[in-house]
Amino acid sequence: MKVSTTSVTALAAGAVAAPSNNVPRKSAAACAEAVTLDASTNVFEQYTLHANTFYRSEVEKAVEAITDSALKASAAKVADVGSFLWLDSIANIAKFDEAVADVPCENILGLVIYDLPGRDCAAKASNGELKYDELDRYKTEYIDPIVEKIKANPNTAFALLIEPDSLPNLVTNADKTACADSKTGYEEGVAYALKSLNLPNVVMYIDAGHGGWLGWDANLDPGAEELAKVYKNAGSPEQVRGYATNIAGWNSWDEEPGEFSDASDAKYNSCQNEKTYVTKFSAALKTAGFPEHAIVDTGRNAVTGLREEWGDWCNVDGAGFGVRPTADTGLELADAFVWGKPGGESDGTSDESATRYDSYCGKPDAYKPSPEAGEWNQAYFEMLLKNANPAF
Ligand code: BGC
Repeated sequence: MKVSTTSVTALAAGAVAAPSNNVPRKSAAACAEAVTLDASTNVFEQYTLHANTFYRSEVEKAVEAITDSALKASAAKVADVGSFLWLDSIANIAKFDEAVADVPCENILGLVIYDLPGRDCAAKASNGELKYDELDRYKTEYIDPIVEKIKANPNTAFALLIEPDSLPNLVTNADKTACADSKTGYEEGVAYALKSLNLPNVVMYIDAGHGGWLGWDANLDPGAEELAKVYKNAGSPEQVRGYATNIAGWNSWDEEPGEFSDASDAKYNSCQNEKTYVTKFSAALKTAGFPEHAIVDTGRNAVTGLREEWGDWCNVDGAGFGVRPTADTGLELADAFVWGKPGGESDGTSDESATRYDSYCGKPDAYKPSPEAGEWNQAYFEMLLKNANPAF
């Protein structure tokens, strides 16, 4: 059951999820009937991205650790912001059950599908548990169980963000051995995910990097063709709505002329902000035969001018929480601003002796110390909060 048009408008305009005391927690709050999502429409106009219990509990713990009373009060508000929950390993599929238990009918649960064989082939910080040749395990031990769980919850709406960085890495990092080795696993793995997760109560967005990645003039068409190829190999599943940009990223939505427009190579990239990237990449996708609507991560993009280079991706120092999830993007091609990366969780460890240490996490513009990717960094969370725009 969908919410009425009247409440739709109210929800979309509300941007921030309802205050926690209005959200029924740990109750069977799903819709009374099976949910059917029409992926030819923007479902974020009907559903609010759910403030999931996992991020809520991370934030609640963070609040306890803060002594300054003003900061504590604003930190508590972050728990009410909708964000995506990352199912980043086979073991973490277990997070699904608690997360699904308190999703009210007017909310959509955002999940990140993120466990491809040979994951994070161009970097080290998020290397995954499956080797590049373990595609069968990805299918049977990771995707299939998630499919079962979603099927068991037909009365809940789901927005799935499919495999951050994977297809973009095949487009631009094919010269790296690990990415070349991962090509089959990524393409067949993503196609399998799209095909298997093509359920009526699901909409899917495939990751497409950001303007500083596939937005280079020379990358737009190859990027679009790569996404379209995998989508078509999956049988063009109906519930694929489009793509996701700036996931765990830092780019401004519409800064003009753009944060890196003064760089010597800027003439090769006409997508100097995400808004332009979405506009141009959507056009390329349409030509390639792929559904061209986007969601854009604004979770940590409040402050610009912090990075030495556009490609600096790890725990950027000085960052702030950005615009709260909303369907009010001002661009028809952009369905919603979302919080993709849960702000406060690390992008990668700054410990040089760690197996997954990546030199990007040791750069001068990266916050130190930082724990392993996905682990909570209290100081970083407090920094994001202090630098938030809009403020909490
Ligand atoms: C990490 C994941 C984590 C996600 C969200 C990724 O960089 O590899 O383990 O769940 O970020 O914080």
